[in-house]
Amino acid sequence: YKRVTVKSLVDMKRSNEKISMLTAYDYTMAKIVDGAGVDVILVGDSASNVMAGHETTLPITLDQMIYHASSVIRAIDRALVVVDLPFGSYQSDPKEALRSAIRIMKESGAHSVKLEGGKEIKESIKRILHAGIPVMGHLGLTPQSIYKFGTYTVRAKEEEEAERLIEDAKMLERIGCFAIVLEKIPASLAKKVAESVSIPIIGIGAGPNVDGQVLVLHDMLGMTHEFNPRFLRRYLNLYEDMTNAMKQYVADVKSVDFPNEEEQY
Ligand code: KIV
Ligand code: NA
Repeated sequence: YKRVTVKSLVDMKRSNEKISMLTAYDYTMAKIVDGAGVDVILVGDSASNVMAGHETTLPITLDQMIYHASSVIRAIDRALVVVDLPFGSYQSDPKEALRSAIRIMKESGAHSVKLEGGKEIKESIKRILHAGIPVMGHLGLTPQSIYKFGTYTVRAKEEEEAERLIEDAKMLERIGCFAIVLEKIPASLAKKVAESVSIPIIGIGAGPNVDGQVLVLHDMLGMTHEFNPRFLRRYLNLYEDMTNAMKQYVADVKSVDFPNEEEQY
């Protein structure tokens, strides 16, 4: 495999090839995602919800993110790996942000980091970029600010927030981010952003007129089933399939169908 790099992503935008991105948090799943040809693997702080069962992304720690990221990195032959800086690891000041990013790069072997926000974290992003660490931006619905928003509904429907988002996207490009995630904003606005910058825009709930798409792995596989946003396409119904497999196992153990003659020594 030819490895995906931050440069190949920009080339993909230029040549109009859409970028595929999924999350992964562990070795076994990351191996499958990478082998399937997904371009970018995000070790998202959605691990806080999906892996740890928290209601928000706020509780996950930098140490926990590094654990997930290092597990993913050991599985990868091709994909570019992006790791979320978790809540509380970069907001205090640029030096703290850089220290956190360095820890992720050194201790997990990841290829890049992602931070939520625009101009309010500009200096932190610049500091990380100056250290040679590629940064992916994240605008629109930024789940680490859920208590500021109050809900997980669509962002930037009003002119003022939309204008600010476009300005933030241009700023992130200007200071050197290699891509930006746009989460849950009107498709027309996402299209406008993708046309306003030359770095790739990866959407989640941002419509088709962007440069790539990202979904949470466990959501698109149908392993989670309480989460039903409009943007989510389920490619499998693993919640049901796995439940059935486990029920069959229980029945087989109870009936001593398992193990059979060949399944013993
Ligand atoms: O943590 C995450 O999974 C994310 C994606 C939804 C973009 O940030
Ligand atoms: Na995230």
